[in-house]
Amino acid sequence: MSPTAKGFILLCRPGFEHECAAETEILAQRAGISGIVRTAPNTGCVHYVFHEVFDWELALEAAPFVAFVFARQRSVWVERLSELPTEDRATPLIEAIAALNIQIGRLEVETADTNDAKTLGGFLKRFIPHIERALTARRILRNNKEDLPTLHLFFKDSSQIDLGLSRPGDASPWPMGIARLRMPREAPSRSTLKLAEAFDALMTEEERNNSLRAGLYAIDLGAAPGGWSYQFAERGLHVFAVDNGPIAPSLIAGGMVEHVRADGFTWRSPRKQVEWLVCDMVEQPARIAQLVADWVASGRARRCIFNLKLPMKKRFDELKRCRQLIDARFKLHGDSYVLRIRHLYHDREEVTAYLAKTQPHGAEQEKQYRR
Ligand SMILES: C[S@@+](CC[C@H](N)C(=O)[O-])C[C@H]1O[C@@H](n2cnc3c(N)ncnc32)[C@H](O)[C@@H]1O
Repeated sequence: MSPTAKGFILLCRPGFEHECAAETEILAQRAGISGIVRTAPNTGCVHYVFHEVFDWELALEAAPFVAFVFARQRSVWVERLSELPTEDRATPLIEAIAALNIQIGRLEVETADTNDAKTLGGFLKRFIPHIERALTARRILRNNKEDLPTLHLFFKDSSQIDLGLSRPGDASPWPMGIARLRMPREAPSRSTLKLAEAFDALMTEEERNNSLRAGLYAIDLGAAPGGWSYQFAERGLHVFAVDNGPIAPSLIAGGMVEHVRADGFTWRSPRKQVEWLVCDMVEQPARIAQLVADWVASGRARRCIFNLKLPMKKRFDELKRCRQLIDARFKLHGDSYVLRIRHLYHDREEVTAYLAKTQPHGAEQEKQYRR
């Protein structure tokens, strides 16, 4: 018998539990799954507890990972072990995993992204290899079988573990949804990591290969000091860096970046169409949403990555409003589009989005992204 699901386990940035819970409730209710949210402020995790147990794969389908903005990671919650005996925590855990009666391709060890949870690091380093060896010996963990589900072990502390399941391609590829990227030494700002993460988190490999090619053009609105422009210049794209503030001289010296001192809301490109528009201007989210939707819907930019700085108190409502504005702009001429939004690891009080107009085969493009 396949495992039954008790709910969802969701990890988020501490402080964003409310938004993560709200989007989970909406997705679950849309799929006709009733349940209740369990979370607390600044814990970095949310449990959505189903009122009735469910087949775990049906539960996954009801709330695909790409539909989430604020959840860094989500799995279907299948078991909880509490009050594990300090003298032997391993045996009950291994037995509980065996009782699920499935094979897994990967083991993902998770905690909340909080200082409290970080103290578990030493314990997990000693404990997990032992579990992995035992599961491999019992042929439950099959490391080279990539199509098998991933087992998530969410440690609240060393005595309580939640077991979750996900499917490869339908969860964050990074442990706990945390993209650990190397900061390039020559990049003018740390913000460069946000765009690097966005390329990975929001686009398919095919989209990256088609659009991040030498010789193409990018416009960077709100570019200073140049962290985002750097990502394009590094890949050989030409960049118009639009900002009244200064751009790092090293970037200009590289020859790929032209500094345009202008207002990002009114400036028009000398080129009729460019591959990329990116926008990191600190402005009201609705204004940004309208601006980028106009660039992409009118065809002046083929695709766009942009950042929406969300107001503390109304993050969820504001995001909804931005989606509606974008939708309305594309509907003006009956165009279809893809819009993917995520609260990236490198985002703080903001989210990052990818927007592109789609051809008639847009549905296929979206399927690729969801894989
Ligand atoms: C968060 S910073 C951008 C950081 C940049 N993405 C990087 O990686 O270095 C926001 C920038 O937006 C610029 N900005 C704000 N409003 C603008 C506007 N109306 N037109 C052009 N730039 C604007 C500011 O001058 C500031 O440099």
